[in-house]
Amino acid sequence: MRAQVAIIGAGPAGLLLGQLLYKAGIDAVILEQRTPDYVLGRIRAGVLEQGTVDILDLAGVSERLHAHALIHEGVEIGAGGQRHRIALKELVGKVVTVYGQTEVTRDLMDARAACGAPSIYEAESVELHDITSAHPSVTFVHKGVKQRLECDFIAGCDGYYGVSRRSIPPEALSLFERTYPFGWLGVLADVPPAWDELIYADSERGFALASMRSETRVRCYVQCSLDDKVEEWSDDRFWAEFKRRVGEDVAARMTIGPSLEKSIAPLRSFVAEPMRYGQLFLAGDAAHIVPPTGAKGLNLAASDVFYLHEALTGYYKGDSRVALDHYSGRALRRVWQAVRFSWWMTSLLHRFPGEDPFTSRIRVAELEYLFSSEAAQRKLAENYVGLPL
Ligand code: FAD
Ligand code: PHB
Repeated sequence: MRAQVAIIGAGPAGLLLGQLLYKAGIDAVILEQRTPDYVLGRIRAGVLEQGTVDILDLAGVSERLHAHALIHEGVEIGAGGQRHRIALKELVGKVVTVYGQTEVTRDLMDARAACGAPSIYEAESVELHDITSAHPSVTFVHKGVKQRLECDFIAGCDGYYGVSRRSIPPEALSLFERTYPFGWLGVLADVPPAWDELIYADSERGFALASMRSETRVRCYVQCSLDDKVEEWSDDRFWAEFKRRVGEDVAARMTIGPSLEKSIAPLRSFVAEPMRYGQLFLAGDAAHIVPPTGAKGLNLAASDVFYLHEALTGYYKGDSRVALDHYSGRALRRVWQAVRFSWWMTSLLHRFPGEDPFTSRIRVAELEYLFSSEAAQRKLAENYVGLPL
């Protein structure tokens, strides 16, 4: 087999890149180790920046999004038993779009199927070869048969645990990492949200996030211990804990329902630099992870892919390789801004086990400053809606 670009991974990054390249007349094959249903079953992101929506428009996959997504002009921060609204639109003139990652993925999968571009699901034992030569290739096993895909470039869109980043010699990468001493336990349920906008709540019992997927479906999280197991959290225990943290008025209005999905995610910040090795380009979670507190992971995957598609399109149009050479630097500048913001939001809103009194006081002072200063709110708003591409 041959393609101009081999894309590894059919998460949002790989599928979006495939669609942008298809629109530009560049042929790509996507190799994914799981089944489409497995990929669609992963409940993850819920908040899209305007820039991400613009990229989905460019890829021609936003019809359903514009018909069904919820537009939020603000976001609430709860602390000290009170809630404060950050008026995103008033402060920075932009909004965020609430539309689940599963829906984005479904729209991208449907668009790819409609245009007949090839995706190979259940591709096992994916291996990258001759990455630094002009003729790289990818081998994989599909339905028991070993195959080789020859290409000009490889896009590593296979997430944090993928094979792409691990195919780069360790001495060619610098890794930056921060792990946090807690996780998020998330529940999806078919009940109408008792909140109009997302609530990020700091409480004595730890952080909680009240989010949603639609007017009839909520997504809620509570900070939990890394040792916790999903089985230890019955629905009743989850909702009782969530209510204690989110604020009394919201708790009183809430309807609860059985969980459709329940999972624990550890929190981590991670960056691998550079995002390129020879003809291999990393994009999305394959190159970086941010804790979900800032709602940035999927949005960063989209901006990486936007830059990469511009660089590849330029190359095939006959421009020089300069844009390809600039890809990593351009992407990383935006990545580090999101890493910084997500780290800040995480530090501000979570209780760290064994937090010392000085750190606690600084955190409270930071929250008070946020609630009393328009400049501080504008800073949060500017980052939350997304820095310019
Ligand atoms: P992935 O979605 O991980 O996709 C990678 C794909 O590659 C997968 O399908 C995988 O099966 C495949 N793959 C892996 N290894 C191989 C291999 N060897 N061969 C072939 N295929 C392979 N982000 C936001 O922007 N906003 C939010 O509100 C938000 N909330 C989140 C909440 C939670 C609880 C979590 C866990 C994440 C959240 N994120 C959020 C982050 C977001 O979900 C990720 O950043 C996003 O999924 C990254 O997309 P990706 O395509 O780079 O990677
Ligand atoms: C979600 O709806 O899953 C969600 C929303 C905002 C976040 C993280 C997750 O910051």
